[in-house]
Amino acid sequence: MELKRRDSHTFILIYRFIKTMNSFQKFRCARCAGEVEAKTVSGHCPHCVASSSLFQESVGHSSRRRFLSALGLGAVAFATRDLWERGAFAEELLRQTPWVEEGPFYPSRLPLDRDNDLVIVGDSVTPSVGEITHISGRLLNQKGEPIKNAVVEIWQTDAHSVYFQERGQKDNFDPNFQGFGQFETGSNGEYRFRTIKPVPYEGRPAAHIHFKVKVPKQPEWTTQLYIKGFGGNARDGVYSGIGSAEEQASVTVDFKPVANSRIKELAAHFDIVPGATPRDGGRGGGPGRGGPGGPGGPGGPPGWDDGGVGF
Ligand SMILES: [Fe+2]
Repeated sequence: MELKRRDSHTFILIYRFIKTMNSFQKFRCARCAGEVEAKTVSGHCPHCVASSSLFQESVGHSSRRRFLSALGLGAVAFATRDLWERGAFAEELLRQTPWVEEGPFYPSRLPLDRDNDLVIVGDSVTPSVGEITHISGRLLNQKGEPIKNAVVEIWQTDAHSVYFQERGQKDNFDPNFQGFGQFETGSNGEYRFRTIKPVPYEGRPAAHIHFKVKVPKQPEWTTQLYIKGFGGNARDGVYSGIGSAEEQASVTVDFKPVANSRIKELAAHFDIVPGATPRDGGRGGGPGRGGPGGPGGPGGPPGWDDGGVGF
């Protein structure tokens, strides 16, 4: 009997111990809701506490990695767009210089001295009358590549508004002005002339210099160079017929004083991208040959092959 009572008491103690132990074992993790054997300060099971910090770190790393990746992709996207806009992938073509009519005063017979210094003729020591001006620039195709072995020609009136071509009809010309010059471009496409600042003449209130470009295997191409801010530009029929304001601006440049020049020389820079003709989009054309705004000119030359790019 005594043994039975002792066994019962032992059984009760064991039951209570197991129940107590079970109460610990029934703790549920606040994160995984799983039953665990030990509590933690955070309320999570030790596994979740451990994995939680790892998870956070993992998410953090993953998020940062994704963020950085997104930044990287964004940077690539921006860079790509930037490169695209700058023409690294798409070929960004230069604006073609407007074709402008040749006019009637291209010399039917070229002068003996036809070099790129129009201010001195032959062995003369007397320079031309007028404001000495250095004209330079590059001959480029639409890709921005230099056009080499091309001949750039210019012609203009002397300071008395007389063309070389007119010397048979007018006797007030300046014999010390060459009136016409040529320059063959090298590998960099550059050209340069020493001439005088152009002046207006009857029928052409816009002072200008005529240009002709001769590129092997391409039709001859002409344009005219104007002075920025020159009062007669707006009244000039040929100038008005060039086209849009942007197209006019592309053949209108500053004639700037040369620094420290004792004889007050000027300089003008004019890059030329030839090729566009009236047939390509109606540039130029307009007024008659050299006229102040006549009824339609003879039209332009045949268009260049390959849009003028492939040479
Ligand atoms: Fe002219």
